[in-house]
Amino acid sequence: MIKAVRGTRDLLPPDTALWNFVEDTVREVFRAYNFHEIRTPIFESTELFARGVGEETDIVAKEMFTWEDRGRAESDKGQSLTLRPENTAGIVRAYIEHKMWDRGLNKFFSIGPMFRRERPQKGRYRQFYQIDAEIIGPPSAGSESPARDAEILELVATLLDRVGIKDWRLELNSVGCPNDRAQFNEALRKALEPVAAKMCADCQRRAVTNPLRVFDCKVPEDQPIIETLPRISHFLDEGCRKHFEEVKGILRSIGVDFVENDRLVRGLDYYTRTAFEFTHGALGAQNAILGGGRYDGLAEALGSPQPAPGIGFAIGEDRLVLSLTKSAEEAIRTPDVYIAPLGAGMNREAARLARELRRSNKDLVVELGDESFRLKKSFEAADKAKARYILIVGENEVKADAFALKHLASGEQVTVPRADLAARIAMQR
Ligand code: HAM
Repeated sequence: MIKAVRGTRDLLPPDTALWNFVEDTVREVFRAYNFHEIRTPIFESTELFARGVGEETDIVAKEMFTWEDRGRAESDKGQSLTLRPENTAGIVRAYIEHKMWDRGLNKFFSIGPMFRRERPQKGRYRQFYQIDAEIIGPPSAGSESPARDAEILELVATLLDRVGIKDWRLELNSVGCPNDRAQFNEALRKALEPVAAKMCADCQRRAVTNPLRVFDCKVPEDQPIIETLPRISHFLDEGCRKHFEEVKGILRSIGVDFVENDRLVRGLDYYTRTAFEFTHGALGAQNAILGGGRYDGLAEALGSPQPAPGIGFAIGEDRLVLSLTKSAEEAIRTPDVYIAPLGAGMNREAARLARELRRSNKDLVVELGDESFRLKKSFEAADKAKARYILIVGENEVKADAFALKHLASGEQVTVPRADLAARIAMQR
């Protein structure tokens, strides 16, 4: 038997009904905030992520699915390609490629699969799904303003409320500008010098190449050492401090709760200033439902001729679905009516009725049986499908042009003329 590859999984009904509920809800919310959908390819040049996300990040250093795409001819050079581990770099690439700065402020969202070669466990997969949102544009359009940060965070809070997730927690930090970061990195490097030898191999490497990434370390023995390291909050310059204060001020005034966490540096190199995560208790070890932040220099790092500050987030949709209280059974739509053709020649009559019903009311869910089924079997099939009504289509009914409609839960049965069927079935929904 051939099975799904480790770390990937099939999403099956009824669970897919929950996924659809989530996606329908977030699309509604995005519409209300004037966000528009963007779709970028699921693979890109490896260089995009190396430059965008950062060579020293766990994502780029260890987790990407990368392959060499051979050239079409002997003389053609091959190209290194990678399944996207995240969507921000791709969206910023598209923004630059299509010169979207002319459009002022852009508000994008995107829903789709991402790929990271991580050790699979509950809430962590090698193919997972993100709901991503980005606000990006020239500074003159207001892209740099703390109002955008607050808008993004308030949007997330609304989104989580709307899908029914109540007990989320917003952890907020400012990771400063490249200047602050250079000083912070220097301080970290110094602080790490005497202790790095006691840390894991990854941290020993990070201590030299990119000390900030030491904060990504998950090794329990290293945590007491990491606790003693300097914090970014002490290195913010005036501009960054003001920006952060303003973001917090707006959040307080609109009533979006948050906690400050100055150890939160996020696992991607492009972040500047605001960085955040929303966590949820039900998730266990993989407790971040979503993460995001500002990335004011990313567009330039990817070759944009114009500055394009931005801020965004990505929800781990798998984790969002795991923390829902709504059940798949509640979300799934079962048939309103099961049409049971009874006896030879009745498939045609049943098909005609099904077509009429579906056309007269697009919201009706109509399931169709088969004339070879005995009545008992039709009832069993209707039960199994969890239909609300069964509609009997036999020779007598066709002659009378009125049909036996039985409500399966109550057992109540009525004869309904063809013309009234759709309205009758829709009545008690
Ligand atoms: P990230 O924190 O790497 O950020 O991922 C965002 C979310 O994706 C995580 O909080 C988590 O819920 C989910 N996630 C990540 N890896 C996995 C996995 N292996 N299995 C299941 N879920 C996972 C980013 O990707 C940034 N691009 C977010 C962003 C957008 N920043 C600015 N704009």
